[in-house]
Amino acid sequence: MDNVLKTEGLKTHFFTETGTVRAVDGVDLAVGSGETIGLVGESGSGKSMTALSIMRLVPSPPGKIISGKVLFRGRDLLAIDESEMRKIRGDGISMVFQEPMTSLNPVYTIGEQISEVFRYHRDMSRGEIKEKRLLCCIIFGIR
Ligand SMILES: Nc1ncnc2c1ncn2[C@@H]1O[C@H](COP(=O)(O)OP(=O)(O)OP(=O)(O)O)[C@@H](O)[C@H]1O
Ligand SMILES: [Mg+2]
Repeated sequence: MDNVLKTEGLKTHFFTETGTVRAVDGVDLAVGSGETIGLVGESGSGKSMTALSIMRLVPSPPGKIISGKVLFRGRDLLAIDESEMRKIRGDGISMVFQEPMTSLNPVYTIGEQISEVFRYHRDMSRGEIKEKRLLCCIIFGIR
């Protein structure tokens, strides 16, 4: 099976006044095409930081990806520039952030927030966006 996403020796550390926190310390994972994987671990074990590292959204400072590779469709995301990364974020790779009350905007419906992704990343007509949005809402049972 082809790997869509792969990390190799991914390390993200936080450099704080009280010392170094090894939040992500050598993560190797692979996600094949059409495959779903779950990361399981106690609170603070680094699940979110692994995802944020893949998206290159680690709060820096104090965090920093210090080594490793993030291969997305064969491309090393840690080696491309920010403008290229911005194209991949929300299009190739998306993230629903923890704490929906702060990461989603309660003023807009989920459907409206899903539409934003298509509007930003795809050259779609209003009708096509509406159709896609409806499909997502049906799949997820939301409005
Ligand atoms: N700003 C920061 N400064 C220092 N350490 C940090 C900072 N942010 C996160 N960490 C550390 O990174 C580690 C991993 O945190 P992370 O949020 O990835 O955990 P998690 O597995 O997602 O936990 P949860 O199940 O609670 O969501 C934690 O031990 C935390 O202390
Ligand atoms: Mg988390």
